[in-house]
Amino acid sequence: MKTLVAYFSKSGVTGECAKKIAEILGADTFEIKTEKQYPPGFIKTIKVCRKEMNSGERPALVGSVPNFDEYDRVFIGFPVWFGTCPMAIVSFLEQYDWSGKDIYPFCTSTSTGIKAGETDIAKYTGQNVHQGLRMKNIKSLDEEEIRRWAL
Ligand SMILES: Cc1cc2nc3c(=O)[nH]c(=O)nc-3n(C[C@H](O)[C@H](O)[C@H](O)COP(=O)(O)O)c2cc1C
Repeated sequence: MKTLVAYFSKSGVTGECAKKIAEILGADTFEIKTEKQYPPGFIKTIKVCRKEMNSGERPALVGSVPNFDEYDRVFIGFPVWFGTCPMAIVSFLEQYDWSGKDIYPFCTSTSTGIKAGETDIAKYTGQNVHQGLRMKNIKSLDEEEIRRWAL
């Protein structure tokens, strides 16, 4: 079984978790990157991202997953933005055919759960997805929990 961990991360928290999850599962990784840079400061970022979400913009992405068809399972990691997944994740999901894939959403956030992100991932892949996993950061990532979740 071939597994991919694809993730978007603005400030590195999700990226760190995604790499650890990939290591635990023996999976490949793919970083979802936008062509545009988000501003470094929090207040400016909030403004830009809010506008992007309100307008339904699909930010352009850099590159694509090599041999996407070969993967049986895809883990999709993202930071929660305004309760759900960032628009970069929507851009990513709309680029591929998800039929027949086992999809596992995961997120990092300061407090919000994964439910809305999970619902959006199901919507944009057109598939049922596995129950998602939310963590605050790498410190709250539990290796045993990851193994049980990914069974
Ligand atoms: C634009 C923006 C919106 C956010 N919205 C939420 C939110 O609704 N709920 C929450 O708990 N955290 C929210 N956060 C915090 C991030 O989800 C959290 O810091 C995340 O771990 C950052 O991951 P990253 O380093 O991979 O980008 C938001 C952060 C940003 C920049």
